[in-house]
Amino acid sequence: MQQLEVNEELGRRVVNALHSAFGIDPEPADALVVVSTRDGVDYQCNLAMSLGKRLGRPPREVAAQIVAHLDLGDIAEPPEIAGPGFVNLVLRRSWLERRVAALAGDDRLGVAPAEKPRRIALDYSSPNVAKEMHVGHLRSTVLGDAIARLLRFAGHEVLPHNHLGDWGTPFGMLIEHLIDEPPAVRGGISDLNAFYQAARRKFDSDEAFATRSRERVVKLQGGDTETLAVWQELIDESTRHFNEVYRQLGTTLTNADLYGESFYNPNLAKVVDELEASGLTEISDGAVCVFPEGFRNRDDDRLPLIVRKRDGGYGYAATDLATAKYWTAERGATDLLYVVGTPQAQHFAMLFAVCRAAGWLDGVHAEHIGFGSVLGADGKVMRTRAGETIKLADLLDEAVSQAAEVVSERSELSAAEQRAVAHAVGIGAVKYADLSGDRERDYVFAWDRMLAKDGNTSVYLQYAHARIESILAKAGDRGDGAPVILAEAAERALALTLLRFGEAVRAAVSAYAPHKLCTYLYDTAVAFSRFYEQCPVLTAETPELRDSRLQLSALTSRTLVLGLGLLGIEAPRRL
Ligand code: ARG
Repeated sequence: MQQLEVNEELGRRVVNALHSAFGIDPEPADALVVVSTRDGVDYQCNLAMSLGKRLGRPPREVAAQIVAHLDLGDIAEPPEIAGPGFVNLVLRRSWLERRVAALAGDDRLGVAPAEKPRRIALDYSSPNVAKEMHVGHLRSTVLGDAIARLLRFAGHEVLPHNHLGDWGTPFGMLIEHLIDEPPAVRGGISDLNAFYQAARRKFDSDEAFATRSRERVVKLQGGDTETLAVWQELIDESTRHFNEVYRQLGTTLTNADLYGESFYNPNLAKVVDELEASGLTEISDGAVCVFPEGFRNRDDDRLPLIVRKRDGGYGYAATDLATAKYWTAERGATDLLYVVGTPQAQHFAMLFAVCRAAGWLDGVHAEHIGFGSVLGADGKVMRTRAGETIKLADLLDEAVSQAAEVVSERSELSAAEQRAVAHAVGIGAVKYADLSGDRERDYVFAWDRMLAKDGNTSVYLQYAHARIESILAKAGDRGDGAPVILAEAAERALALTLLRFGEAVRAAVSAYAPHKLCTYLYDTAVAFSRFYEQCPVLTAETPELRDSRLQLSALTSRTLVLGLGLLGIEAPRRL
């Protein structure tokens, strides 16, 4: 059986104490103790203050009651009460040493796999065909991939699906344009945006072309073979572009995960029928709509989710209804997660409301994992606009070449090694910038900040890891199986941090918040650097101390590699 995490272990004991002292049973146990920021204190329980208020008793008295009933066994020293009623906990050294030693023998570094694995349909990346991916899609790809890795590691089954925008009215003009100008694609469409814009210009200025385009949409929807073949050419060409970005990023998405909007096309009519039969729909302005409860505009008018348009066509919302139905009913998903920018929050809220009303989400957890925009240096949304398009592939190349400059200051690496390292550092920096902040917030894309060697950056973490590996290489020994000795404060602080890996992963998983893992990894690298300053490893006073410190170093290295790996970031051994 997997051991409890430290905060959980302590929390459960506090629960027992609260039960016997006051007859109350608060949940969850792991929220009852927190890491302490006070010197010489490891964890603290701050419950006496709120409980005192609730019971109408002085907090210190409540704290004393808690302490009187608190059985910590061999885990911690007798607790002390401080200030208005904090219960301070200091872990026993021998217990800590045993826990760290156990961690060293555990591939998962203390993370227990989920007791009840879920089957999670995860919608991410989801760019639009015949358009270049933009930074918003980059963020969805990076966040989605990290979340997929975290969920899998936590023991869940992840069903990734890339909801390509590959269907709808724009395809009429795109197909016509491709038929008019086949050379544009014969050698590959080099610039998807330019292609799209050219089609758009013709559509807006050439009446005959516009008419042909509209007729082409009807042919496409009617399943005309020739039309479908040209459409497929567009899809393949776009997919080639997307795959190039995925390859550069090292994402786990494959062609098998492509479930574009067109995939759901055959199900749309049925889904609408079902909604109509359930009595949820209304005809409004000739369109079939559902007005989910609680959604109104500023004028207090009810907001519709348009299920079928007046002209009989289906749009984005109808496809998303069919998507939700497919992954739950046909694929047995217990969770529907969508990694899509926050501007679509209302769309998803309405979608879930309608699905719930239709009874499709019974026992299913549906959540929009929203994220903020990527801003340029001017503080405005960094986006593709005519004349100043940012191609993701170029952006990633730029990241690698900027990283190459950072890396080439060290000359002991071979040219091939330098290239691999520049790739790991450059791509890592872009990803980490997307991941390390609270995802709901916007952030400014700035090369110098994301490639800084200090601060909460991937480069800092990669350097920390490489430095540890170089120490271990010099020692020629990783201290495997050596007894752990935690005599110095810095050793103890590092050990406590290493023991919190599971807690950090769990927090990142449960809130779909990779930044929580980033913060933890940064704390770990900082704790190591303090340890290394204060505790000589290679020149430790005794062989036992040296082995113990090598073991702590190796454990830190493994924690960084595993953690970065869960974020989809490589950690080269040498930098
Ligand atoms: N293609 C859409 C866009 O670029 C994102 C699709 C998100 N997924 C979904 N099921 N709606 O905005």
